[in-house]
Parts: sequence; structure tokens; C-alpha cells
Amino acid sequence: MLTTMLQRVAVVGAGAAGLCAARHILARPSIFTSPVVFELSGEVGGTWCYDERVGSDEKGRPIHSSMYRDLRTNLPKEVMMFPDFPFDAQLSSFLPHQEVQRYLDQYCQNFKIQPHIRFNSTVERVKPVVMSTDGREKTVWEVTSSDSSGCQKTDRFDAVFICSGHYSDPHIPNIPGLENFRGKVLHSHSYRYPEPFSGQSVVVLGAKASGLDISIEMAKAGAQVTLSHGYPPFTFPLHPGIQQCSSLVAVEDDGRVRFQDGSVGEADVLMFCTGYNFKYPYLDGQDLGLEIQNQLISPLYRFMMPPAFPSIFFIGICKLICPFPNFNCQVQFALAVLDGSVSLPPRAQMEDDIRRELQEKLDRGVQHRHLMKIQLEQWDYCQDLASCAGFPPLPPVIRSLYEEVWRQRGIHLENYRKVNYKLVSDTRWEAVSS
Ligand SMILES: Cc1cc2nc3c(=O)[nH]c(=O)nc-3n(C[C@H](O)[C@H](O)[C@H](O)COP(=O)(O)OP(=O)(O)OC[C@H]3O[C@@H](n4cnc5c(N)ncnc54)[C@H](O)[C@@H]3O)c2cc1C
Ligand SMILES: *[C@@H]1O[C@H](CO)[C@@H](O)[C@H](O)[C@H]1NC(C)=O
Repeated sequence: MLTTMLQRVAVVGAGAAGLCAARHILARPSIFTSPVVFELSGEVGGTWCYDERVGSDEKGRPIHSSMYRDLRTNLPKEVMMFPDFPFDAQLSSFLPHQEVQRYLDQYCQNFKIQPHIRFNSTVERVKPVVMSTDGREKTVWEVTSSDSSGCQKTDRFDAVFICSGHYSDPHIPNIPGLENFRGKVLHSHSYRYPEPFSGQSVVVLGAKASGLDISIEMAKAGAQVTLSHGYPPFTFPLHPGIQQCSSLVAVEDDGRVRFQDGSVGEADVLMFCTGYNFKYPYLDGQDLGLEIQNQLISPLYRFMMPPAFPSIFFIGICKLICPFPNFNCQVQFALAVLDGSVSLPPRAQMEDDIRRELQEKLDRGVQHRHLMKIQLEQWDYCQDLASCAGFPPLPPVIRSLYEEVWRQRGIHLENYRKVNYKLVSDTRWEAVSS
């Protein structure tokens, strides 16, 4: 009789990605033991756990969540959901953050994940150890964690899922003279609500999802907002109180701000909505054969695993994606790698493939810092994972509705959330009047 040892898997983080990993591991009890999910906070949901505090918590740890008080999702629940676990049908399509946290709680209960989470437990170090048994090399992962009393412990695993999120470490671009600015400098990570900005002049840097949202919130609360960005000027109407401006290029000696077009102005606040850095304090890139930079982790085969150690998986690190469905595909693919139903090319070939793909993008003019944005490729990417690993692909209706909402957002920036949607089949959705 052939006996195989069950594999032990560690999951770092109990946000959406970590819960998804745990859910699929628990569904394969003949291959994996129950996972150990390490979660530094006392609850599940990660980013979706709103925390009014900014800076650091009572234990001196940096606040993880970048959620603001009045955030509503920018994707309808019909495409945001994990494909195997719909949101409550009574809810409208665009939800306040509390409803997403509640959903993740329900997901956790439904799939009985809670007993496998070690709360208040921070992963301090994840390290591969190569062992050889019977002349065969095998990687074992040592995961060192500390509990709330600071007590450290090291456990060994066969595989690790990295699900610690990447919207916590603010990215602030280099602005010459920034130290001369006399007002307040903030990053959207530490923005919670608009009232304190009433009557102030605020320069918002960056006009992606959070830059636009926060500009509107502040303008409604009576701030004079200058939305500074490097795109061609937007043609859709902006809320009264918001004016557009080219990129901020410097702060002058006298504290005034200077823009690309040469104009100079004064402001009370600079609000950086300029994105986040990848940050994994518990990983040493060199151990893994990886370069972990602010905006790029490389080489990662299929944006998940380092070719040198294909038993550690980064889940959800691509940008401009439909997050939960993407995590769901990645996790199932990763588990198919571990159970042997997907076989990977040899290390050298994976490295070549990655290098070639990144180079092709650079040749097409994609900037280095945008290499992990896969908005247009994301559907082929997920489809490919599904067909290689043999799980059901995302139904086409997800892409279709995602793209529709993306279009609507570009036209009706302030009103696109008023529409509700319904999935009527795998290929069709409808807008429902409310
Ligand atoms: C402001 C904002 C708005 C967003 N809006 C939307 C939206 O409308 N729709 C959408 O689909 N997505 C949205 N997103 C994207 C969102 O990030 C994803 O939906 C998803 O929540 C990411 O989940 P995650 O599990 O990868 O990371 P997180 O949610 O960040 O979870 C990571 C978890 O890991 C834990 N952790 C971190 N380090 C350690 C450690 N060393 N040891 C133990 N545990 C650790 C953290 O405590 C946290 O619980 C938004 C993101 C932000 C920041
Ligand atoms: C985690 O710590 C908080 C206080 O920091 C505490 O209230 C909570 O009960 C702890 N949770 C667990 C599951 O130990």
C-alpha cells in the first residue's frame, strides 16, 4: 500500500486571501492536515476591519488597515464575492466596508476556519530549510511567530501561503523640497474621515480609486481640493470644490507647491494617494532567490511562487484585479501544485519565462513600477490557472460586469454606485432598478 504523509501548510494572515487559502486546504483532508493560520490581530478580515486609530496600536504595532469611515466598495458585490459564496441577496451592490467584514466573518464561519486561526500571533520569520532524506532534497519551512505575551515559537511546515496584504506600507514618491512644506503631510493610509479638512486647501496627489474618492469626500465636507495627477485632464464633471492640476513636482523654499505646468500655489495639506509598497518584514528575499522591491517582487512564477522554492505562494499580490475571484483561482492552482496534479517546468525554465514576460512588458513601454498591474490580462491569467489545474474557470459574467462597472465609473464618478446589479446566468447580468 502506498502511504503518503499529509502535508502541513502555514497561512500568514486571516484577511480575504488567507481565509480563502484555509477554506480550500480544509476541503482536501486526504492531502493536507488542517492549516495553521497566523493572524497578528484579534479578528478576521484584514483591510476590511476599520480602525479609527492611525499610526500605531496599543502594542506599538503599525495600524494595518487603510480603510476609511465612509468607504463604499468600488466593485459590486456580484463580482467582488468569492464565486462559491455569494453575499446576502438583500444587500445592495455597492457596500459599506462593514458589510464586507461581515461577509468575511460569515465565510470564516461557513467553512469552519476559525478553529485553525492563531489570533494575536505575529509571524516574525519564514525560512526555508533544505533537508535531504534518502538522497532526495526537500524544503521544510520554519515559521517563527510570537504571541501577545511576546513568546516566540517555531513550527515546521511543508508549504506556506503568504497572505499578509500589501496595502499598509505607504508609498510616498520623492518630491524635492518636501521638508519645506509648512502644512500637514498625510498619506491615504492614515485618512479616516473628511471633517477635519473643512475649510482647508488640500492638494491630493494621485487620482486612482482612493485619490478620487477622498477628493470627493473632502470637497463635500467643505475643503478646497486640488487634485494633482499625471493623467490627461479628466473630462467627466468633478464635484464643485475640486479643481484638477498637473503633477506636483516640488516644494519651494518658502513652502509653496510647484506643479508640472509651472504654476505655484499654497496649501494647508498634502494628501498622498500614491499607493503602497510591498513589505514583508518576516521574509528575506535572498533566502528565497527573490528581489523584493517596493513595487515589484521578482521572479515569481505566475505571480505566485519563486522558482527556487515553489512551495511558498504569494496570494493576491497583483494589482488592478478583481481581488476575491483572483485569490480563489490562485489558491486552487497553488494547491494543485502541492498535490502534484500540476507539474511545474524546471527552475531554469520558469526563470526564463518570467524574465521574458517582464521584458516584453518593458519593451511595450510599461513602467517598472507597473509590472504587477494586470488589469487587462487578469481574465486570461485566471482562465489559464483554471485550465492547468482543472478547476472551474470564472464565469464570463464576472468579467463582463467588472468591465461595465469600470466604464460607468469613468463616466459617472459620483453616481455609479447607485445602480444595483443581478447575475442572471453565467454569461448575463442585469441592472435592477431600485
Ligand atoms: C482603501 C481600500 C479599498 C479597497 N476597496 C476594495 C473594493 O471595493 N473591492 C475589492 O474587492 N477590494 C478592495 N480593496 C482591496 C483589498 O485589499 C482586497 O479586497 C482584500 O481585502 C485584500 O486581502 P488580503 O487578505 O490580501 O490582505 P489584508 O486584507 O490586508 O489581510 C492581511 C492580513 O494579514 C495579517 N498580517 C499581516 N502581517 C502579518 C504577520 N507578520 N503575521 C500575522 N499576520 C499578519 C493582517 O493583520 C491582516 O489581517 C481595497 C483596499 C483598500 C486598501
Ligand atoms: C487578542 O488580543 C486582544 C487584546 O489585544 C484581546 O481582546 C483578544 O481577546 C485576543 N484574542 C484572542 C483570540 O486571543
